[in-house]
Amino acid sequence: MRLDRFLSNLPRFSRQDSRLLIAAGRVRVDGLITCDPRCEIRTFQRVELDGELLQAGRTARYWMLHKPVGVVSATEHDSHRTVLDLLDENHRHDLHLAGRLDLNTSGLLLLTNDGQWSRRITQPQQRKPKVYRVRTERPITAEYVEVFARGLYFAYENLTTLPAELQLLDSHNARLTLYEGRYHQVKRMFGHFRNRVLALHRERMGEIALDPALAPGEYRPLNPTEIASV
Ligand code: URA
Repeated sequence: MRLDRFLSNLPRFSRQDSRLLIAAGRVRVDGLITCDPRCEIRTFQRVELDGELLQAGRTARYWMLHKPVGVVSATEHDSHRTVLDLLDENHRHDLHLAGRLDLNTSGLLLLTNDGQWSRRITQPQQRKPKVYRVRTERPITAEYVEVFARGLYFAYENLTTLPAELQLLDSHNARLTLYEGRYHQVKRMFGHFRNRVLALHRERMGEIALDPALAPGEYRPLNPTEIASV
């Protein structure tokens, strides 16, 4: 919400008052005097008027988790353990997932309470690479590389997948880089060749790589460089 609206939503200030207070340099956002009425105020920001606290600002939280196979990427589930059950943190119910993984997929999962941040890393328009290791039932051939680079038509969504990069590692293993995250996308792409995915592991999202020090089920907060990379 804009700063002028934020102030005029408080019962004691009109739109006119709020503009005057801002122009007079009486409002601080995260400790800095802000004279721009259009400045966007988020729930994570601290807002003060003449030193009086108007909004304390929630703490923004960002975690990476090494998701094990068999744990569901949801915040609640009737029959399976969820990724939130793996987090031993008081505030965990405030978090959401920035991009899900299937039950039998392992690897990098990002959790946050910052909706704008998670949209930046997951929305297809942002073209953030998602890198997966794939093991398949049958051999992977050079034809896959071309077909994935051209894009595949998904009838259900009526769309063609964005060009994806496939690097063959050996006859049954490859590294696939996608720039979007459609439902079961990797399995459906290999399904085009009637080749079943036996193991799938996410290594990276954008600039954020799964920390090799994390065993399956372990997690850690993102560092400032990782947070700022999104
Ligand atoms: N594509 C899939 O098919 N499954 C995942 O978990 C992630 C991407």
